[in-house]
Amino acid sequence: MASTAPTKAATEIALTGRPVISATGLFTPEETITNEELVASFNSFVDRHNAANADAIAAGEVEALAHSSVEFIEKASGIKARHVMSKAPILDPDTMCPRLDERPNEELSIMAEIGVIAARQALDRAERAPEDVDAVLCAASNMQRAYPAMAIEIQQALGIEGFGFDMNVACSSATFGLQTAADYIRAGNAKSVLVVSPEITSGHLNWRDRDSHFIFGDVATAVLVEDAAIAPREHWDILGTKLKTVFSNNIRNNFGFLNRAHPETAGAPDKLFVQEGRKVFKEVVPMVAEMILEEAERLEIDAAGMRRLWLHQANAGMNRLIAQRVLGHEANADESPTVLDTYGNTSSAGSIIAFHLNSDDLVAGDTGLICSFGAGYSAGAVFVRKAA
Ligand code: COA
Repeated sequence: MASTAPTKAATEIALTGRPVISATGLFTPEETITNEELVASFNSFVDRHNAANADAIAAGEVEALAHSSVEFIEKASGIKARHVMSKAPILDPDTMCPRLDERPNEELSIMAEIGVIAARQALDRAERAPEDVDAVLCAASNMQRAYPAMAIEIQQALGIEGFGFDMNVACSSATFGLQTAADYIRAGNAKSVLVVSPEITSGHLNWRDRDSHFIFGDVATAVLVEDAAIAPREHWDILGTKLKTVFSNNIRNNFGFLNRAHPETAGAPDKLFVQEGRKVFKEVVPMVAEMILEEAERLEIDAAGMRRLWLHQANAGMNRLIAQRVLGHEANADESPTVLDTYGNTSSAGSIIAFHLNSDDLVAGDTGLICSFGAGYSAGAVFVRKAA
């Protein structure tokens, strides 16, 4: 068991202003839903709907719903299964939504709870005591509530002093959080910052929508960003970070406070995740590849020489194309690892899971890229090098 004794690091060591990743953490829900289970439940919902509306469908007043298919899901997305916090109600054709008990305010909320598990793992791996952390950023797309900030609840549960705040840049939240944390280190305003990304995406997914019901999964990740002066022996230098946003309605969720100001549409499907998947695919691939190549050139990093790309986990085809443009050849699984086959799209956490599970084997001097992209549009790139 790693020690959590206070290191008193910052008071004794001169800070460098150079940000590093000291450690990462991952919480994976125990339950999984396979494509077969998902499609069986969806198709049973479709059959019931069509039977209940048979007359209206025959009269052309209601449109018949179509079955989903395991083959389509795997071929179009690369997803084979996803982890979820609440499996049975999602698969129940009468519910098709997670069921999570509302907790009293005195209890740790569920989003904070899974964030804390991932954060504790990152702290343990870095042998860092909570007292030595200066700030907590909860960087995620699916906030459980508006306020108080999830980050502050996580900060309190971990026993961290300093400050915390939430930030939401959809699927790019974690990389935007990493750049924000790195900027605190660069500016000398902090020496140790936790970026936590709990993503209970099953809450915003429309499990009754054939076009998207297979996309998301639940998870939580944490990344400890620190000044190089206090980094543990094993760490990753952050060589540079780059963020980009371009407005688009092609991935959108209209849930919000103003829904109650227009009750007629408060429960409409646009208050859940909706996307134009084809357009997203076509528009985001060139935007991201260009951003990576331009920034690599500016940082004088040989893009084609990067040892590994930990890309956002939304679609295997998008990753194939982006990796090919960046590396100059078709990337193999070692160069561009996939976790979306078993995790699904976990929004902001995807590239961090890929990094967490696939970085121990790299050697000192190896360079790589953590990269996310998604709604906004938004894209974030974090160039790293394994430290000697
Ligand atoms: N089962 C079977 N068929 C389905 C289906 C399902 N679950 N969902 C859609 N189809 C059908 C469509 O009706 C369509 O049929 P048609 O050709 O007869 O009209 C066909 O499959 C193709 O649909 P389309 O939506 O164009 O599929 P796609 O190949 O674009 O794949 C995504 C859909 C969502 C997997 C893909 O577009 C994607 O991943 N895009 C990127 C999304 C992304 O990264 N988003 C970020 C989210 S944070």
